[in-house]
Amino acid sequence: MHKKTFFIILCSSLVILGLKFQFLAPVEKTQKLLTPLELAGLYIYQREGCMHCHSRVIRPLRDELQRYGNHSISSDLAFFKDQKSNHIRIGPDLANVGHKYSDAWLSQHFQNPRSHITISNMPAYPHLNRALNTSNIDSWMQQHDYPKAYIAHALNDIPAQLDPDHEGVEGLTTRYQNPSKNIQIRNFDQQDGIATELDALISFLQTLDTSSEL
Ligand code: HEC
Repeated sequence: MHKKTFFIILCSSLVILGLKFQFLAPVEKTQKLLTPLELAGLYIYQREGCMHCHSRVIRPLRDELQRYGNHSISSDLAFFKDQKSNHIRIGPDLANVGHKYSDAWLSQHFQNPRSHITISNMPAYPHLNRALNTSNIDSWMQQHDYPKAYIAHALNDIPAQLDPDHEGVEGLTTRYQNPSKNIQIRNFDQQDGIATELDALISFLQTLDTSSEL
């Protein structure tokens, strides 16, 4: 065989082999419907511009899987309309950050990221301690085509998700719990009283999980 032809065949084989090792087959997942509290957290995430430093897309490449876990598929981003700025990675990817840290760790990290990671360049977000403004919940849910009955219960579902003894817990779980979603019900910011922006943001972050079981 001609030397040049042999070299071309060798190079093509290596490239094909390399691609085979890098890309893995996508997995099937069911869509998770965010609760009103988690949906409010998503809007805080967008308002604060977290996506300008954090991607939420784990690519099906071995090094990404090793660092961040299961790769993302398009339905993971169904609630995330601002997809243009989803690929930037100044901070770590957050697609699989749910359950990685305790609520207390996240809360402290928002108060002052440098209390955990001394060289962190993430800004502090102490203002997230304030009360959650629920006046836009209806329109956010409408934008995502929630059923009318879900929208009607939203203002009761928010306090219900913060207190396991709340009378609305049963209704909340009936609406949002299904085989692909385990609802987390607790006081996320660990402060007594009203729902805060921190409650909403932490509840949203704790849902971020690319595994197909949840
Ligand atoms: C200016 C860039 C920047 C912005 C804006 C930013 N972060 Fe970060 N974030 C970082 C960096 C860098 C790290 C890694 C160091 C650290 O943990 O503090 C990080 C770490 C994190 C972690 C820990 C991730 C892990 O796997 O260890 C979480 C969770 C997080 N950020 C959430 C947020 C949220 C939510 C917002 C918006 C309210 C936000 N960040 C805004 C840069 C940023």
